[in-house]
Amino acid sequence: MDLELKDKRILVTGGSRGIGRGIVTTLASQGASVITCYAGSHDAAESLRAELAGYGDRHLVVQADVADRAAVARLVDVCAERFGGLDALVHNAGVISHIPFADLPEDEWERVLTTNLTSAYLLMRAALPLLGAGSSVVHVGSKVAMVGVPLRAHYTASKAGLIGLTRSMAKELGARGIRVNVVAPGPIETEAELPAEVLERYRRMIPLGRLGRADEIAGAVAFLASDLSSFVNGETLNVDGGI
Ligand SMILES: NC(=O)c1ccc[n+]([C@@H]2O[C@H](COP(=O)([O-])OP(=O)(O)OC[C@H]3O[C@@H](n4cnc5c(N)ncnc54)[C@H](OP(=O)(O)O)[C@@H]3O)[C@@H](O)[C@H]2O)c1
Repeated sequence: MDLELKDKRILVTGGSRGIGRGIVTTLASQGASVITCYAGSHDAAESLRAELAGYGDRHLVVQADVADRAAVARLVDVCAERFGGLDALVHNAGVISHIPFADLPEDEWERVLTTNLTSAYLLMRAALPLLGAGSSVVHVGSKVAMVGVPLRAHYTASKAGLIGLTRSMAKELGARGIRVNVVAPGPIETEAELPAEVLERYRRMIPLGRLGRADEIAGAVAFLASDLSSFVNGETLNVDGGI
């Protein structure tokens, strides 16, 4: 199927591992030109570079911390220099930790909120001049944002914030022809390091009887980044096996 992504210029954050890697390779395999960033895992970045080389020489993998205003500005400058503009911005990079609320230190709250939510503000503000009519912004949120889950108050707050940001930006940027949406994954195989009993509980809760795969999140992102979704705006698309 032609997803109509050929020659689209797309920035994906956090593309070196996990879901982001699935997004980057799916978009590149559909003909998009992709710039992606990672925080610090150089080996994973190197292996992604090697994989992307199989999809042509127009892709780029750069180190950039999305929680750092100056690094975000440099990342967007790279997009401007290399692509001259962006057809889609996919903000996937995110961090999580599991801590009882009573023990949650302020610096951990700050780290998760800044990496997951403030980063979206930094990225969108910096990238706005590169986004023209017909472009698309996709935030990777989480199903738990609207459900809640113990030990993740900071994480769920950050992901719920992404939904509010998305709703408002969809309304503000719609007049410029820019769409803004959320993809909200349920439990994905990249969480496979979780304890066996947690994984089993997820499998029982998910009607499809299994965890999702990174490429299944990538499919939803590719749809929202493409013109196939040209009238979808302000939406949160849950990709969770019906949990
Ligand atoms: N996995 C799930 O089941 C699940 C479910 C719901 C939502 N999500 C969301 O999906 C997204 C991806 O999750 P994942 O499980 O694939 O994560 P992951 O396997 O930990 O990969 C995270 C990616 O983001 C990068 N990254 C992390 N912090 C960054 C920063 N400050 N600046 C730039 N890049 C950064 C990482 O680079 P380094 O390796 O260099 O650190 C890595 O490439 C996250 O937003 C997460 O909240 C995941």
